Amino acid sequence: MEHIKLKHLRLGVNIDHVATLRNARGGAHPSPVAAALLAQKAGADGITAHLREDRRHIKDEDINDLKQAIDIPLNFEMAATQEMLENALRVRPIAACIVPERREELTTEGGLAVAGQETRLAPMIDQLKKAGIRVSLFVDADEQELQAAAKLGADIVELHTGRYCDSPAGERRQHEARRIAHGAHFAHALGLEVHAGHGLSFETVSDIAAMPEIVELNIGHFLIGASVFTGLEDAINQMRNLMDEARKRV
Ligand code: PXP
Repeated sequence: MEHIKLKHLRLGVNIDHVATLRNARGGAHPSPVAAALLAQKAGADGITAHLREDRRHIKDEDINDLKQAIDIPLNFEMAATQEMLENALRVRPIAACIVPERREELTTEGGLAVAGQETRLAPMIDQLKKAGIRVSLFVDADEQELQAAAKLGADIVELHTGRYCDSPAGERRQHEARRIAHGAHFAHALGLEVHAGHGLSFETVSDIAAMPEIVELNIGHFLIGASVFTGLEDAINQMRNLMDEARKRV
Protein backbone atom coordinates (compact mmCIF):
# COMPACT_ATOMS: atom_id res chain seq x y z
CA MET A 1 0.00 0.00 0.00
CA GLU A 2 1.44 3.36 -0.97
CA HIS A 3 2.11 5.77 1.87
CA ILE A 4 -0.77 8.15 2.47
CA LYS A 5 -0.60 11.27 4.58
CA LEU A 6 -2.84 10.62 7.57
CA LYS A 7 -5.52 13.28 7.75
CA HIS A 8 -7.65 14.39 10.69
CA LEU A 9 -10.75 12.21 10.83
CA ARG A 10 -13.75 14.51 10.76
CA LEU A 11 -16.95 13.69 12.59
CA GLY A 12 -20.15 14.75 10.86
CA VAL A 13 -23.12 14.56 13.21
CA ASN A 14 -26.42 13.66 11.54
CA ILE A 15 -29.30 15.30 13.42
CA ASP A 16 -32.20 13.75 11.44
CA HIS A 17 -33.52 11.78 14.36
CA VAL A 18 -33.85 14.82 16.60
CA ALA A 19 -36.44 15.83 14.01
CA THR A 20 -37.97 12.33 14.15
CA LEU A 21 -38.52 12.81 17.87
CA ARG A 22 -39.90 16.31 17.40
CA ASN A 23 -42.30 15.16 14.70
CA ALA A 24 -43.65 12.40 16.93
CA ARG A 25 -45.61 15.14 18.74
CA GLY A 26 -45.52 17.99 16.25
CA GLY A 27 -44.45 21.39 17.55
CA ALA A 28 -40.89 22.58 17.89
CA HIS A 29 -39.30 20.39 20.57
CA PRO A 30 -36.66 18.97 20.45
CA SER A 31 -35.10 21.36 17.96
CA PRO A 32 -32.68 19.98 15.33
CA VAL A 33 -31.02 23.41 15.19
CA ALA A 34 -30.41 23.41 18.95
CA ALA A 35 -28.96 19.88 18.60
CA ALA A 36 -26.70 21.03 15.75
CA LEU A 37 -25.43 23.97 17.83
CA LEU A 38 -24.73 21.63 20.76
CA ALA A 39 -22.94 19.22 18.43
CA GLN A 40 -20.88 22.10 17.08
CA LYS A 41 -19.97 23.12 20.65
CA ALA A 42 -18.99 19.51 21.43
CA GLY A 43 -16.51 19.49 18.55
CA ALA A 44 -18.45 18.09 15.59
CA ASP A 45 -16.68 18.96 12.34
CA GLY A 46 -19.89 19.17 10.35
CA ILE A 47 -23.65 18.70 10.48
CA THR A 48 -25.47 16.31 8.19
CA ALA A 49 -29.18 16.42 7.47
CA HIS A 50 -31.29 14.45 5.02
CA LEU A 51 -34.31 16.20 3.51
CA ARG A 52 -36.29 13.16 2.43
CA GLU A 53 -38.91 13.34 -0.28
CA ASP A 54 -41.59 12.39 2.27
CA ARG A 55 -40.19 14.88 4.89
CA ARG A 56 -40.46 12.19 7.53
CA HIS A 57 -37.89 13.90 9.75
CA ILE A 58 -36.06 17.02 8.51
CA LYS A 59 -38.34 19.66 6.96
CA ASP A 60 -37.54 22.41 4.47
CA GLU A 61 -37.42 25.10 7.14
CA ASP A 62 -34.99 23.00 9.22
CA ILE A 63 -32.49 23.06 6.36
CA ASN A 64 -32.80 26.84 5.99
CA ASP A 65 -32.48 27.35 9.74
CA LEU A 66 -29.49 25.01 10.00
CA LYS A 67 -27.66 26.80 7.20
CA GLN A 68 -28.21 30.13 8.99
CA ALA A 69 -27.36 28.91 12.48
CA ILE A 70 -24.23 26.79 12.23
CA ASP A 71 -20.64 27.85 11.57
CA ILE A 72 -19.42 24.39 10.58
CA PRO A 73 -20.08 22.79 7.16
CA LEU A 74 -23.56 21.55 6.31
CA ASN A 75 -23.69 18.25 4.42
CA PHE A 76 -27.05 18.03 2.67
CA GLU A 77 -28.21 14.48 1.98
CA MET A 78 -30.54 14.27 -0.98
CA ALA A 79 -32.21 11.91 -3.40
CA ALA A 80 -31.31 12.25 -7.06
CA THR A 81 -34.45 14.19 -7.97
CA GLN A 82 -35.11 17.54 -9.62
CA GLU A 83 -36.87 18.79 -6.48
CA MET A 84 -33.87 18.02 -4.26
CA LEU A 85 -31.45 19.45 -6.79
CA GLU A 86 -33.39 22.73 -6.64
CA ASN A 87 -33.28 22.64 -2.83
CA ALA A 88 -29.51 22.09 -2.85
CA LEU A 89 -28.94 24.91 -5.32
CA ARG A 90 -31.05 27.25 -3.19
CA VAL A 91 -29.52 26.30 0.18
CA ARG A 92 -25.92 25.97 -1.11
CA PRO A 93 -24.50 23.63 1.49
CA ILE A 94 -20.76 22.89 1.48
CA ALA A 95 -21.50 19.38 0.25
CA ALA A 96 -24.41 17.42 -1.13
CA CYS A 97 -24.45 13.68 -0.62
CA ILE A 98 -26.66 11.84 -3.11
CA VAL A 99 -28.33 8.86 -1.47
CA PRO A 100 -30.86 6.29 -2.70
CA GLU A 101 -34.43 6.62 -1.48
CA ARG A 102 -36.25 4.24 -3.80
CA ARG A 103 -35.74 0.50 -4.11
CA GLU A 104 -34.71 0.69 -7.74
CA GLU A 105 -31.90 3.13 -6.88
CA LEU A 106 -30.31 0.74 -4.37
CA THR A 107 -27.46 -1.65 -4.98
CA THR A 108 -27.77 -5.08 -3.39
CA GLU A 109 -26.06 -3.83 -0.24
CA GLY A 110 -27.80 -0.49 0.11
CA GLY A 111 -25.66 2.20 -1.53
CA LEU A 112 -26.64 4.24 -4.55
CA ALA A 113 -26.58 2.29 -7.82
CA VAL A 114 -24.26 4.68 -9.68
CA ALA A 115 -23.19 2.26 -12.40
CA GLY A 116 -26.05 2.17 -14.88
CA GLN A 117 -27.52 5.53 -13.76
CA GLU A 118 -24.80 7.72 -15.23
CA THR A 119 -27.09 9.50 -17.68
CA ARG A 120 -29.46 10.53 -14.90
CA LEU A 121 -26.75 11.50 -12.40
CA ALA A 122 -24.27 13.32 -14.69
CA PRO A 123 -26.27 16.56 -15.25
CA MET A 124 -27.17 16.75 -11.56
CA ILE A 125 -23.55 16.34 -10.45
CA ASP A 126 -22.53 18.91 -13.01
CA GLN A 127 -25.00 21.53 -11.76
CA LEU A 128 -24.08 20.98 -8.12
CA LYS A 129 -20.37 21.31 -8.88
CA LYS A 130 -20.93 24.43 -10.98
CA ALA A 131 -22.70 25.95 -7.97
CA GLY A 132 -19.58 25.29 -5.86
CA ILE A 133 -21.15 22.42 -3.92
CA ARG A 134 -18.93 19.41 -3.30
CA VAL A 135 -20.60 16.25 -4.54
CA SER A 136 -20.58 13.05 -2.55
CA LEU A 137 -22.13 9.74 -3.62
CA PHE A 138 -23.24 7.25 -0.95
CA VAL A 139 -22.10 3.92 -2.37
CA ASP A 140 -21.13 0.40 -1.48
CA ALA A 141 -17.44 -0.43 -1.34
CA ASP A 142 -17.68 -2.00 -4.76
CA GLU A 143 -15.04 -1.37 -7.43
CA GLN A 144 -17.59 -0.93 -10.22
CA GLU A 145 -19.57 1.69 -8.25
CA LEU A 146 -16.41 3.52 -7.21
CA GLN A 147 -15.12 3.61 -10.76
CA ALA A 148 -18.48 4.94 -11.96
CA ALA A 149 -18.42 7.63 -9.22
CA ALA A 150 -14.93 8.75 -10.25
CA LYS A 151 -15.87 8.81 -13.92
CA LEU A 152 -18.86 11.03 -13.16
CA GLY A 153 -16.57 13.54 -11.45
CA ALA A 154 -17.83 13.10 -7.88
CA ASP A 155 -15.53 14.76 -5.33
CA ILE A 156 -16.32 12.30 -2.57
CA VAL A 157 -17.64 8.79 -2.04
CA GLU A 158 -19.25 7.91 1.26
CA LEU A 159 -18.85 4.18 1.82
CA HIS A 160 -21.93 2.41 3.21
CA THR A 161 -21.07 0.76 6.52
CA GLY A 162 -24.54 -0.67 7.18
CA ARG A 163 -23.79 -4.29 6.36
CA TYR A 164 -20.56 -4.15 8.41
CA CYS A 165 -22.46 -2.76 11.42
CA ASP A 166 -25.31 -5.26 11.06
CA SER A 167 -22.97 -8.27 10.89
CA PRO A 168 -22.35 -10.17 14.11
CA ALA A 169 -18.99 -9.38 15.76
CA GLY A 170 -16.34 -11.83 14.61
CA GLU A 171 -15.37 -13.17 11.21
CA ARG A 172 -18.49 -11.94 9.36
CA ARG A 173 -17.97 -8.38 10.55
CA GLN A 174 -14.24 -8.56 9.90
CA HIS A 175 -14.96 -9.73 6.38
CA GLU A 176 -17.15 -6.64 5.86
CA ALA A 177 -14.42 -4.44 7.37
CA ARG A 178 -11.89 -5.82 4.86
CA ARG A 179 -14.31 -5.10 2.03
CA ILE A 180 -14.67 -1.47 3.18
CA ALA A 181 -10.89 -1.11 3.69
CA HIS A 182 -10.32 -2.33 0.14
CA GLY A 183 -12.98 0.07 -1.18
CA ALA A 184 -11.40 2.99 0.71
CA HIS A 185 -7.99 2.17 -0.75
CA PHE A 186 -9.41 1.73 -4.25
CA ALA A 187 -11.43 4.97 -4.11
CA HIS A 188 -8.49 6.96 -2.77
CA ALA A 189 -6.31 5.65 -5.60
CA LEU A 190 -8.95 6.94 -8.05
CA GLY A 191 -8.53 10.41 -6.54
CA LEU A 192 -11.80 10.40 -4.59
CA GLU A 193 -12.11 11.76 -1.04
CA VAL A 194 -13.39 8.92 1.12
CA HIS A 195 -16.05 9.19 3.83
CA ALA A 196 -18.01 6.43 5.56
CA GLY A 197 -21.20 6.04 7.52
CA HIS A 198 -24.45 4.32 8.39
CA GLY A 199 -25.14 2.40 11.57
CA LEU A 200 -21.85 3.27 13.29
CA SER A 201 -21.81 2.97 17.08
CA PHE A 202 -19.29 2.95 19.94
CA GLU A 203 -18.86 -0.77 19.23
CA THR A 204 -18.29 -0.54 15.48
CA VAL A 205 -16.59 2.82 14.92
CA SER A 206 -12.96 1.93 15.72
CA ASP A 207 -12.16 -0.42 12.84
CA ILE A 208 -13.57 2.06 10.35
CA ALA A 209 -11.81 5.03 11.99
CA ALA A 210 -8.52 3.15 11.67
CA MET A 211 -8.75 3.08 7.85
CA PRO A 212 -6.23 5.74 6.79
CA GLU A 213 -7.93 6.77 3.53
CA ILE A 214 -11.18 7.63 5.30
CA VAL A 215 -11.29 11.30 6.32
CA GLU A 216 -14.88 11.73 7.53
CA LEU A 217 -17.49 9.67 9.35
CA ASN A 218 -21.16 10.64 9.37
CA ILE A 219 -22.99 9.31 12.40
CA GLY A 220 -26.54 9.95 13.47
CA HIS A 221 -28.95 7.41 14.86
CA PHE A 222 -26.62 5.90 17.46
CA LEU A 223 -25.45 9.30 18.76
CA ILE A 224 -28.98 10.65 19.09
CA GLY A 225 -30.04 7.42 20.84
CA ALA A 226 -27.05 7.52 23.22
CA SER A 227 -27.75 11.16 24.01
CA VAL A 228 -31.08 10.16 25.58
CA PHE A 229 -29.02 8.50 28.32
CA THR A 230 -25.91 10.65 28.65
CA GLY A 231 -26.54 13.82 26.70
CA LEU A 232 -25.45 14.77 23.18
CA GLU A 233 -22.16 16.39 24.19
CA ASP A 234 -21.12 13.33 26.16
CA ALA A 235 -22.09 10.95 23.33
CA ILE A 236 -20.11 13.03 20.82
CA ASN A 237 -17.12 13.23 23.16
CA GLN A 238 -17.09 9.47 23.62
CA MET A 239 -17.33 8.91 19.87
CA ARG A 240 -14.57 11.46 19.24
CA ASN A 241 -12.29 9.73 21.76
CA LEU A 242 -12.86 6.32 20.14
CA MET A 243 -12.10 7.80 16.72
CA ASP A 244 -8.92 9.49 17.98
CA GLU A 245 -7.73 6.31 19.73
CA ALA A 246 -8.34 4.24 16.58
CA ARG A 247 -6.49 6.79 14.45
CA LYS A 248 -3.41 6.42 16.69
CA ARG A 249 -3.27 2.73 15.65
CA VAL A 250 -2.82 3.61 11.97
N1 PXP B 1 -24.39 8.61 5.84
C1 PXP B 1 -25.43 8.61 4.98
C2 PXP B 1 -25.15 8.87 3.55
C3 PXP B 1 -26.74 8.39 5.44
O1 PXP B 1 -27.76 8.39 4.57
C4 PXP B 1 -26.95 8.19 6.83
C5 PXP B 1 -28.33 7.99 7.34
O2 PXP B 1 -29.10 9.12 7.09
C6 PXP B 1 -25.84 8.24 7.67
C7 PXP B 1 -24.57 8.42 7.17
C8 PXP B 1 -25.99 8.11 9.16
O3 PXP B 1 -26.44 6.85 9.48
P1 PXP B 1 -26.85 6.56 10.98
O4 PXP B 1 -27.99 7.44 11.31
O5 PXP B 1 -27.20 5.10 10.95
O6 PXP B 1 -25.65 6.84 11.83
